Amino acid sequence: PHTRRVSITPTSLKPDGNLWSDQKLKSARNLKDFSPVRVLGKGAYGKVILVRDLTTSKLYAMKQLKKAEIIFTNQENVDENSDEHKDSSALFKRIERTFAERTILSELEHPNIVKLFYSFHDNSKLYLLLQYIPGGELFFHLKEHGTLDEDTVAFYAAEISCALKFLHDKGIVYRDLKPENCLLDQNGHLVLTDFGLSKKSVAQMESDAGLKEDNNIMELHSIIGTPEYCAPEILQGLSYTKNCDWYSLGCLVYDMLVGKPPYTGANHKIILSKIQKQNVKLPYYLSDGMKDMLGALLKKEQGKRWDVDNYWRVAQNKTTKARKKRKAGQERTSGYTAHFVFRKINWKKLESGELQNSE
Ligand code: ADE
Repeated sequence: PHTRRVSITPTSLKPDGNLWSDQKLKSARNLKDFSPVRVLGKGAYGKVILVRDLTTSKLYAMKQLKKAEIIFTNQENVDENSDEHKDSSALFKRIERTFAERTILSELEHPNIVKLFYSFHDNSKLYLLLQYIPGGELFFHLKEHGTLDEDTVAFYAAEISCALKFLHDKGIVYRDLKPENCLLDQNGHLVLTDFGLSKKSVAQMESDAGLKEDNNIMELHSIIGTPEYCAPEILQGLSYTKNCDWYSLGCLVYDMLVGKPPYTGANHKIILSKIQKQNVKLPYYLSDGMKDMLGALLKKEQGKRWDVDNYWRVAQNKTTKARKKRKAGQERTSGYTAHFVFRKINWKKLESGELQNSE
C-alpha cells in the first residue's frame, strides 16, 4: 500500500535574482562552500542532497530547485482538473509558491519544523540549505514496519500538532501533511519539512504588511496537496482554512495505525469521490480513544471537525479546564475521549524537546 505520493501541484517555483538569496542570513554562501556526500531524496521539486560545509564540516540537507522546471511546468504533476497549465497566471503562482517556502521557513523557529540556514542560486538552480535530519522520512519507517503502535502514533501526532498549532498561530496553513514530509531526527523526534505548499492567510499577510487591501488573490481555494490526504472542502473548491491540516493529520494517524490512508482507489478520481462521499471505516482493533480522535479529525464538515488548536488550550491547562468540562457534562462531546490518546503526553516536556518517544 505504500507508494510515494507526489503532490498534485509542483513545489517547484522560480528565481528572481536577489530576492532569493540571503539578506538577513549572516554571510553570503555559495555552492563552492559545500561538498556533496549523498542523495537524500528526490521529489517533484528536484533533489535533496546531503552536503558538508567545507569550512565547519557541518552537515546540511541541500534542497535544489531547477529554475527551468519552475518556469516550464512539469505536466506530470499537474492535476488535469486544474487550470494550472492553461492560464497565464500559472507561472506567477509557481513562483509565488517557491518563494513562500523560502520566506516562510526563514521566519520560523520551532523544534518540530526544519530550519533554513542559507539560500542562494546560480544560473540553473535555487538552493536551500536545510537542517540535516538524520533519521529519514517517516514514510520509509512506515513502509518498513507496515504500521506503528498506538503510543508511538500518539507521540508523533502530538509533535505534529505542536508544529501545526505553531504555524496556525502565525497564520500559516501547511497544506501538505504526509509521511514523506515528516522526518525523524537522531532522538526520534519528528520534524516537518517541505513548505512548498504552505501559505499565509490573507488576514495574516495584511496584518504583517500593516495594511488591509481589498483583494482576494490569496484566498485559499486552489486544488492542492496530495490526493489521499486532501480534505473534502479543498476538493469541493470551497475556500479552506487551517482545518484542512487537522483533516490531513487524521489521514496520517489512520495511515500509521492501519497501514494505508482512509480512502484508497485505483486512480485519483475514485479516491477523490470516496473522500467526499464515503464514511470512513475505523478498524475494530483500534482503541476507543484512537477511534474517537480519528472520527473527530476526519469529519467531512470543516465546522464539525475537531479543533486541535482548541484542544491544545485545554491540554495546556489540563487539570482545571478538563475538570470544568467534565463537570459541565461535556465529556461525551467529540474529541473529548481522544484526550486519552494524548493522556500520557507531557506537553511541557514535549514543547521543550525533552520528551522521548519511549516515555
Ligand atoms: N530529506 C528531505 N529533507 C531532508 C532533511 N532536511 N534532512 C534529511 N533528509 C531529508
